[in-house]
Amino acid sequence: MPLLFKKIKDLRNFLKSKKCEGKEIGFVPTMGYLHEGHRALIRLARMQNDIVVVSIFVNPTQFGEGEDYERYPRDLERDLAVCEEEGVDIVFAPDVKEMYPKGYRTKVCVGELGNVLEGAFRPGHFNGVATVVVKLFNIVQPDRAYFGEKDYQQLKIIEEVVEDLNIPVEIVPVPIVREKDGLAYSSRNVYLSPEERESALAIYKSFLLAQKMIKAGERDANRIKEAIRKFIEKHPHVKGIDYVEITDENLKPKETVEKGDRILVAVRVGNARLIDNWKVEV
Ligand code: PAJ
Repeated sequence: MPLLFKKIKDLRNFLKSKKCEGKEIGFVPTMGYLHEGHRALIRLARMQNDIVVVSIFVNPTQFGEGEDYERYPRDLERDLAVCEEEGVDIVFAPDVKEMYPKGYRTKVCVGELGNVLEGAFRPGHFNGVATVVVKLFNIVQPDRAYFGEKDYQQLKIIEEVVEDLNIPVEIVPVPIVREKDGLAYSSRNVYLSPEERESALAIYKSFLLAQKMIKAGERDANRIKEAIRKFIEKHPHVKGIDYVEITDENLKPKETVEKGDRILVAVRVGNARLIDNWKVEV
């Protein structure tokens, strides 16, 4: 079983002794309800470090009013079992009081990237993410930290925060892990009924459609985005598309599509809001 810490002080004391022994620490921040996507991050961390720390904390400051903070799935017992299977050394699962004893007072305010795409629909979201991630970095002081490309904008913003604030950690990106039929693993997939899940697959299928257009020579981003929208919209249970965007790898919108660009979407299906993205091949 991994060692479970709930208090910052206890975790710090323990890690201090490991650091003194010269051990390298790999860190995987999560909100729990672990799935294959999280496992991929943990496996890479396991391969590259002496000690693997996983945090499990549903961070209230990154949820907006009326979002799913209360109903976000939680199951610490199951998560501990997953961590044991993956050879995790330490699980850090603080409660909200431990992380925010004085409330949400000092914040990390991210740059322009925090206002586009997800940020445009979830105001303040990325400040909440960046604040908790910086706090966790200060608590764990890892050599490397692992972030999934599933949340591509989050990854890019964390890279920026680390660079701007000179945080001594290497950010390691991990490709998206999908279920057999193409749906990206997400803790939020539990919100989907079987019929809604079927409709959610339209996201992945729309990426294949876009990819096919690109392979056939289409380079006009607007035409590709329109085709994606049309395809997703026609599925039942799709309540709306928040955005379909094509950007370069640094999230700058593109008019002409090239290899390595990203297609990013956010779609509301049933009671779930799903995000996904695709790296363009030509
Ligand atoms: P959470 O949604 O639990 O995700 C934790 C990490 O797992 C993130 O880096 C995310 O990109 C990655 N991940 C999730 N699904 C994935 C998939 N299908 N394939 C690859 N990686 C995947 O992201 C958060 O938590 C929070 O915002 C957090 C960074 C922990 C801050 O609170």
